[in-house]
Amino acid sequence: MKLMNELGVPVPAHKSHVIRPIKDVTLEQRERALRETEYNMFSFPADLLVLDYLSDSGSTAMSELQWAALFHGDESYGRNKGYYVLLDSIRDTFERGDSPREAFKLILSGEKDVEKLMDELYLTKEEGGFVNAGANQLSRPNAFITPQGRAAEHLLFSTIREVLDEMNGPGKPYWIPNNGHFDTTGANIAANGIEPVNMFQPGVLEEFPWEKMDSENPFKGDMDLERLEAFLKEKGRENIPVIYLTITNNTVAGQPVSLNNIKAVHKLATQYDIPLFFDACRFAENAAFIKQFEKGYEQRSIRSIVQEMFSLADGFSISLKKDGLSNIGGGLFLRDKGEFVKRFSTAKEDVGVRLKEKQIVWFGNDSYGALSGRDIMALAVGLNEVVDQSYLYNRIGQTRLLAGKLAQEGVPVVLPAGGHAIYLDMNRFFEGSDMKIDDFGGVGFTIELLRNYGIRACELGPFAFEWDQKNEEQRQGILNLVRFAIPRNAYSREHIDYTVAAVSELYKNRDKIPKVKITRGAELRLRHFQTGLKPVY
Ligand code: F0G
Repeated sequence: MKLMNELGVPVPAHKSHVIRPIKDVTLEQRERALRETEYNMFSFPADLLVLDYLSDSGSTAMSELQWAALFHGDESYGRNKGYYVLLDSIRDTFERGDSPREAFKLILSGEKDVEKLMDELYLTKEEGGFVNAGANQLSRPNAFITPQGRAAEHLLFSTIREVLDEMNGPGKPYWIPNNGHFDTTGANIAANGIEPVNMFQPGVLEEFPWEKMDSENPFKGDMDLERLEAFLKEKGRENIPVIYLTITNNTVAGQPVSLNNIKAVHKLATQYDIPLFFDACRFAENAAFIKQFEKGYEQRSIRSIVQEMFSLADGFSISLKKDGLSNIGGGLFLRDKGEFVKRFSTAKEDVGVRLKEKQIVWFGNDSYGALSGRDIMALAVGLNEVVDQSYLYNRIGQTRLLAGKLAQEGVPVVLPAGGHAIYLDMNRFFEGSDMKIDDFGGVGFTIELLRNYGIRACELGPFAFEWDQKNEEQRQGILNLVRFAIPRNAYSREHIDYTVAAVSELYKNRDKIPKVKITRGAELRLRHFQTGLKPVY
């Protein structure tokens, strides 16, 4: 199946079934709302927007099967039926390749054969993978459901710190390398006194011809292997609790990671005897890039590519608000008897038991992890739908279409497009003007885009990453980007056309985009969620 048809447009993979009307909001009304919310993008009421590209997280339009699954939600405190189907969907998606069991269908079809339900769902005995079952999950817990990705991160990194302090004495320095830590991942690592280190390849902003986006991809999200190897040599195994790979690499313009790179990182991790973890938020989109662009994978199914990717991981944390195709959910999964479990279990205590205790104290019983039974059912279905090739090709095709159209209008967009978002390069956008880096031109652009056209995007540059609060060395790592993250299954061609028209018009009139001053809270952490701003017209 091709990504685009002969006309150069994505092949439709769904149609609307329920619609949400967009309100008629005037320019003056938007101006008032902007003023009264201190021009902070995160505090603008979503209901007053035409289009919202703030995040692809949790903003998915669910499928009819997912909505049907909600009705089967079981809100029991212990071992609700969704728990079993969700765990089996995790096995399906990450371990079973082309042979998923789709156990959720037993529930959706109202199966009444009790023996069958016990044998195939409630009393199975899996072990050795990411999701132990029954007594194995009790004695060696390795699957932890959480409300979202950052909760899984908190669970993992606080536990790593605790165990290392017990083993080696408190307060020692540790590092966790990644091809690109997401902001909450980095923050959760740092909050536990461990240093997050980014090792993405150089060249993400290098030009790439938009005409070639359908035929080539340089996998700009890859880990910089030379840097990683030198780092492992320098710091040594004992100071690096895990190596992380984020797929796709959200911090690096949503770019995919090649299987070649995953294999090479896995080899280094094995050589140094360090567990390899994935931040797997957009694993399915990453697999679609591998199928389309990596040599040797053209004939492979998405499911079998996902299986191969995850066969190289010792564990993963995941936000299921992305490629879970759900509005909420996350999890932490450890390979049964794997490297991580061996390294972080003590003579006294299995690390899974420790994690489970924390999960219960913070998020609720381990069979729901702070999710409602309804959400768990929707997730179990979503995980099986997200590996559908038609859906994925339509999804990454739409992102590519938006990037290609903007590029044709001359707008400086990072190419090739990533899976979930397109990113504008604001240094090139304002090239030749008197806009300086600390005038926050990217923020000025997002304010004008919202004010004039009701479209919300997000600056991920000198404002969000606190350029003015950083030293010269830290400033080197800050890219000057604006991100448009596309909600899954929510927007169609007319939304893309409206966006291209609006952004192109602003680009033509870029000399009128205001500089922006921070009026309140410049020194706050995570300030893009909190700070007050003012455009200077
Ligand atoms: N890791 C990556 C790569 C992410 O993109 C995100 C969230 C998380 C972890 C945390 O997951 O939100 O469920 O707690 N990214 C969203 C975004 C918020 O807009 O990019 P979460």
